[in-house]
Amino acid sequence: MSRSHVLLTRRLPAKALARLEETCDLEFLDGGALTSAELAARVPGKHGLVTMFIDPVDAAVLAAATELKVVATVAVGYNNIDVAAARQRGIVVTNTPDVLTEATADLTMAILLGMTRRIVEGDRLVRKGGWKGFSFDFMLGSDLRGKQIGIVGLGRIGRAVAARAKAFGMRIAYTRGRPAPGDDAEAMPLDRLLATSDVVSLHCPLTADTKHMIDQPALARMKRSAYLLNASRGPIVDEAALAWALENRLIAGAGLDVYEDEPKVHPGLLNLDNVVLVPHLGSATTETRTAMADLAAQNVVAVLSGQPPLTPVG
Ligand code: DGY
Repeated sequence: MSRSHVLLTRRLPAKALARLEETCDLEFLDGGALTSAELAARVPGKHGLVTMFIDPVDAAVLAAATELKVVATVAVGYNNIDVAAARQRGIVVTNTPDVLTEATADLTMAILLGMTRRIVEGDRLVRKGGWKGFSFDFMLGSDLRGKQIGIVGLGRIGRAVAARAKAFGMRIAYTRGRPAPGDDAEAMPLDRLLATSDVVSLHCPLTADTKHMIDQPALARMKRSAYLLNASRGPIVDEAALAWALENRLIAGAGLDVYEDEPKVHPGLLNLDNVVLVPHLGSATTETRTAMADLAAQNVVAVLSGQPPLTPVG
């Protein structure tokens, strides 16, 4: 049987590579950010393409990929892939849901505690030699118990965040999605969720609909004591509007794991103490990244051997 040709935009953990190497010849593009033209130049003759969420798999790339049968992104979000164009060409698109749910929810909680308990700000102060010793009203944060977390996008990750927030004594409100059976989360429209939540946490996919969903008017609707947390996709928040809202204390604080134009961060955010900035680490644990890579490899092998993919999108 002839071997398939698979292009990977990054090296993956050994287990995933070994799985692919059983039946495929592999080529790597170990670059940083790739343009669509760079990717288009390398896809002719490839049967499989393994990508990251930052690789632009647009219509031009798919048009150049005349032999391509599967695009496997090593991520749950797939807004970088023109899924409709792939479908038209009979190319299967897969992602890596579930295996990263817990790690991403854990990081969301870490950011939530980091911003409400001012951990990063405190760390910076101590390192600068700015700590003058204990004081009763020094660096007071905000309790979670009894507060409302408004989850925008109650999918797998949103539900995992809700379970953790509940364990911290928070009330759960949500929009977009549905709770697990038996959950006492309260559904509400976005406007009400913004106006009543103490923490607004974003967990929805990036689509034309959700781009800049959190803009200046949305931020103005939030309580002055509230926090915004984004561990989904950067462009869901208008970063310039957020910098303005934080600077003017329209909201108490924010925590971001994702940005509009990564790895750039809006300069207005960089000098603010009331924002925690994390470099897109949602799924970044050894165990989770290994599982994501392995799932992507399984998807490629399945499609290229004529089997149904494990986790197709669309
Ligand atoms: C995803 O999976 O979509 C993350 O953003 C990258 O792990």
